[in-house]
Amino acid sequence: MTRSVTILGCTGSVGRSTMALLDAAPEGAFRVEALVANRDFAVLAEQAVRHRARLAVVADPAAWADLKAALAGTGIEAAAGPKAVEDAAARPADWTMAAIVGAAGLRSTLVALARGGTLALANKESLVCAAELVLAVARKGGATLLPVDSEHNAIFQALDGQDPAGVEKIILTASGGPFRDWTLAEMARATPEQAVRHPVWSMGAKISIDSATMMNKGLELIEAARLFPVPEARIEVLVHPQSAVHGLVQFADGSLLAQLGTPDMRTPIAHALAWPKRIHVAAPRLDLAALGRLEFSAPDPRRFPALRLAREALQAGGGAPTILNAANEVAVGLFLDRRLGFLDIAAVVEATLSGMMAPLAEGLEPILELDAEARRLASRLAGARAAVS
Ligand SMILES: NC(=O)c1ccc[n+]([C@@H]2O[C@H](COP(=O)([O-])OP(=O)(O)OC[C@H]3O[C@@H](n4cnc5c(N)ncnc54)[C@H](OP(=O)(O)O)[C@@H]3O)[C@@H](O)[C@H]2O)c1
Repeated sequence: MTRSVTILGCTGSVGRSTMALLDAAPEGAFRVEALVANRDFAVLAEQAVRHRARLAVVADPAAWADLKAALAGTGIEAAAGPKAVEDAAARPADWTMAAIVGAAGLRSTLVALARGGTLALANKESLVCAAELVLAVARKGGATLLPVDSEHNAIFQALDGQDPAGVEKIILTASGGPFRDWTLAEMARATPEQAVRHPVWSMGAKISIDSATMMNKGLELIEAARLFPVPEARIEVLVHPQSAVHGLVQFADGSLLAQLGTPDMRTPIAHALAWPKRIHVAAPRLDLAALGRLEFSAPDPRRFPALRLAREALQAGGGAPTILNAANEVAVGLFLDRRLGFLDIAAVVEATLSGMMAPLAEGLEPILELDAEARRLASRLAGARAAVS
């Protein structure tokens, strides 16, 4: 039976991997309902034509004229603007990929969850900044939420519906990023080019910087505590440079179940696309003999304070994760623009968290207000740091 799919963030790293799986699928297995990007109209139009999508949307209205011109005569509907993104997410689809980067993906994730179906969640920031809301909307809409982040997908596979009472511990692995072995002095001088050059994974700019600061693992820690029935204190992070073991679950009887694979996002995306079945993926296979050994170590809290900040925000609860995420998005953006140093990213997040009350914001508008307030404070604090450095 043909399944209808919508890809939110189709032109990004996860979006393109998802499109590659659709390219490789047997004729008639999937039908593309809607594709959404921010402003990359050229790639969006090419994908829409190739997959005969019904609708293509750019969030940025400035890209609408170009999109319309690129789709002229194809019969594919073109639309633009934030409301059009939400309308695309609201259209019926059996399976939706949420792969917009940052809290910008929150509204469309909620809209897709509210109408039911399966939502493959790559956009971890929406779960970090609005977990209760996201999960409540998913429950109300009868949606199935499947984790696409490789670590959470691994844990989902290892848990495999087992009784939560038997789960002792969850372990998230981290590659350690490009600065795993750098000194603090070297990290202080790190450039955006060095920070986005991830040693193992090929990803978008924002998540690459998050990997370099290890904030990515902090966001994933919060994501794991929201998705799985395990309290924060029993979620551990280990640095594992080979990135072969993506996640592990330790059970009460001492068993440790892990999911392994090459670092290729097509594998966890395909798991969510075919679940509960499996489909063939042409990703490289893990050659354990060639790999030889698997190393694990505890992360260094002195060089990677972002992980501590995320754990503290999770422990503090209320709106603290929303503030953490918003401040991080601001600081990462400024670092990419060369207006902030690499080590300042975590410093700005920490100062923003200490400079704000973090009441529990219930409902979308209060969450967005808290997010906006945190962005304003983080920008001011970052400006002050940039001025003295
Ligand atoms: N990359 C990975 O391997 C990976 C792994 C696990 C989880 N994730 C998560 O998946 C999400 C996407 O990551 P990515 O690396 O794929 O990011 P990316 O390469 O930067 O792609 C982001 C996508 O979102 C679109 N977008 C950005 N702002 C938007 C807006 N306001 N409205 C609508 N669309 C918007 C972009 O469109 P344009 O191209 O037009 O700008 C692009 O399609 C992130 O939450 C990340 O943490 C990624």
